[in-house]
Amino acid sequence: MSTVWESDHLRDMKDDPERLVRSETIEDDFEAETTLRPARLEDYLGQTRVKENLGLLIEATKARDEPLDHILLSGPPGLGKTTLSSVIANELGARLKATSGPAIERPGDLAAILTNLEERDVLFIDEIHRLNRVVEEVLYPAMEDFMIDIVIGKGPAARSIRLDLPRFTLVGATTRTGLLTGPLRDRFGIAFRLDYYTPEELRAIVERSARILGVQIDETGASEIARRSRGTPRLANRLLKRVRDYAQVRHDGIVNEDVSAEALAFFEVDHLGLDRMDLSILEALIHRFSGRPVGLGTLSAAIGEDADTVEDVYEPYLLQLGFLSRTQRGRQATPRAYEHLGVPLPPAAAGAATLFGDSAQD
Ligand SMILES: Nc1ncnc2c1ncn2[C@@H]1O[C@H](COP(=O)(O)OP(=O)(O)OP(=O)(O)O)[C@@H](O)[C@H]1O
Ligand SMILES: [Mg+2]
Repeated sequence: MSTVWESDHLRDMKDDPERLVRSETIEDDFEAETTLRPARLEDYLGQTRVKENLGLLIEATKARDEPLDHILLSGPPGLGKTTLSSVIANELGARLKATSGPAIERPGDLAAILTNLEERDVLFIDEIHRLNRVVEEVLYPAMEDFMIDIVIGKGPAARSIRLDLPRFTLVGATTRTGLLTGPLRDRFGIAFRLDYYTPEELRAIVERSARILGVQIDETGASEIARRSRGTPRLANRLLKRVRDYAQVRHDGIVNEDVSAEALAFFEVDHLGLDRMDLSILEALIHRFSGRPVGLGTLSAAIGEDADTVEDVYEPYLLQLGFLSRTQRGRQATPRAYEHLGVPLPPAAAGAATLFGDSAQD
């Protein structure tokens, strides 16, 4: 019975391989995401520099018995920003209150959240770059002086009262530091940028997750998954679960290098971790637009994907691999991308290195 279901499940996943890379809230992943999420700094693997810094800051503030300064976490999706916010709260022995930029619609919503905080609470605001301006302005004095001004009443009778807030720590997360306003960015005492994980770090993450999920995996199997996870723990965990499904249905459940490679080929994740959507981006740039620079809007429309998703999810990894360059005139596939797809360079580009040079990557 369960085997039949597992096969259907495999087929569904194969029909929509982009889900492997993109979607954050696949239902079957939800429960596991919670259990796989490290709770303490020592279980948070990789990001050594960030961890060292954070460990030191936490120790210092605890010794001084002060609240920790506000922290801004930035980096591409799935690298562990949300996870780190709860690790910070756990390490401080503080409560965590979580919300997100788009969820706070009016200044009153934020005022309600802030006035309900207790001393030393950690307030996590995800997607903080999506706070609207009026709400953001309430946050400035709250962050700086732990107080807010609330306007009571309307018209000529309106008056403003000042409320003191408990001393809390704000942890803001964003996939795009560039979209944060200067005044907001300046009010964070600490800023960490999370980088893509190395294959060795990802292998350790896959091995830890496999232990928690009870998956039998050897080192080569874990390395194969790690190599194809585009530097991203969320994806490493997701690929592990799909490989586990495959190993269970087509093999004896044990994951080694061959089983991993076979499973990932089945799900159309190539040896660099590129999936169907990454490849359509590169193919569109190379074939449809004949290697010319293309604007984000045009590119997104051509591949039928939302521009924000292309910019946040797909581009950072293609840039990191050196497959894409962002010039002032638009996006362009690099010679390395041509090579990966086995397409000869167009004659005009072959000799003209400058065509691919000076990319404006941020
Ligand atoms: N350093 C790490 N060590 C082990 N597992 C990790 C680490 N970072 C992240 N993970 C795993 O990856 C998953 C995704 O991480 P998380 O949700 O924190 O990413 P995020 O940066 O908040 O992504 P988004 O920008 O999409 O919100 C977590 O559920 C966790 O299991
Ligand atoms: Mg998150």
